[in-house]
Amino acid sequence: MPEYTLRIRRFDPQSGRAAHWEEHLLDMPETQSVLDALLKVRDEVDGSVGIRCSCQQAICGSCGVRMNGKPGLACNTHLGEASRRAHGAGWNPPAGNEPAVIEVEPMGNMPVIRDLIVDMDQVHWKKIQRVTPWLINQEPVPEREYIVPHENMVDVTQTMACIQCGACVSDCLAMEIDPLFVGPAALAKSYRFVGDPRDAQHQERLKDLAEDPHGIYDCTHCFNCIDACPKGVDPMGQIMRLRRRAGSDHEIEDRNNGYRHEHAFVKNIEKNGLLHEADLLPDSYGGKFHPRAVPEVVSSLPIAARAFARGKMTAKSALTHPHKASPEVKRIFKVVEGREERVELNLYVTGYEDDPKSTGPGPEETTASESEKS
Ligand code: SF4
Ligand code: SF4
Ligand code: FES
Repeated sequence: MPEYTLRIRRFDPQSGRAAHWEEHLLDMPETQSVLDALLKVRDEVDGSVGIRCSCQQAICGSCGVRMNGKPGLACNTHLGEASRRAHGAGWNPPAGNEPAVIEVEPMGNMPVIRDLIVDMDQVHWKKIQRVTPWLINQEPVPEREYIVPHENMVDVTQTMACIQCGACVSDCLAMEIDPLFVGPAALAKSYRFVGDPRDAQHQERLKDLAEDPHGIYDCTHCFNCIDACPKGVDPMGQIMRLRRRAGSDHEIEDRNNGYRHEHAFVKNIEKNGLLHEADLLPDSYGGKFHPRAVPEVVSSLPIAARAFARGKMTAKSALTHPHKASPEVKRIFKVVEGREERVELNLYVTGYEDDPKSTGPGPEETTASESEKS
């Protein structure tokens, strides 16, 4: 049986002692979970190890931790998988070598209560409450029931898969910089209702999250939440969908300039084929000479000066762009803009296989949600 060194980060704020690592050597099959290993240590060696768990089947969401630097559920992460995380995919511990090390520490972006237990109330649940996590029903209430089109329910199925484990919150880069950011889990939760036709407040929800400086436009597209999520919720994808709903369907021009920035991005690519950064900032504020753009351009001058000094930018590259959009890029824009209805490219919930207009994957790539439609 492989041997593992389980390194557990211990911390009890009430003890007055600094956080420290404790090591335990374990002989366990690599197909047992990290939670099994933690519980073995707690049951047989040290009953004071703090870990939260319940279902042990990746359902309750209570055993979120970081294992070798990556967040996830301790109960559905095999010891072998956790040890390979430290070395990258495809790595196997060589026989006869040192035991593989598995470091287990509490999730990030949330205060530690004790050892591996973090205070979900302080961060995660507060943010969930922030997005009004319940349906505000349409009026009048039907006599019997609301009839919801099947595709709408399939559309929100992905967000409904969330088990509120907080793994995405743990590694959200935007939240590290801005703790007030509403965050991936809560924004995914919000799409649950924005995508539901029974909800009466789509516009209000979207406006609220677009106008909030810590809302939908605060995400930096780092993809960490997608990697972290054990349930395939794709929180970043849901945030992008909220943005498209806010910007394209409801034309919400927010005070954070998110709407204009996204449109400037699209126009920039349409014109140049490749991004011309020097135009992006002024265009996001209405163009180089727009009164709103002037303070932004002035405040960016020190950065531009440093880029000039380091040779990363020249007068020519700042003022002109060597690329012009190719006919292929222009054709893509024409096709997309010529559509009567915007098509969501959500890989979890895509078009029907027998729909010739569908832009989703073919039948061989059918996802779990798609198969529910048949
Ligand atoms: S993609 Fe956005 S929401 Fe997701 S972890 Fe990164 S910054 Fe946070
Ligand atoms: S979106 Fe995924 S990672 Fe985030 S709380 Fe829900 S299940 Fe956990
Ligand atoms: S113990 Fe329930 S998700 Fe891990």
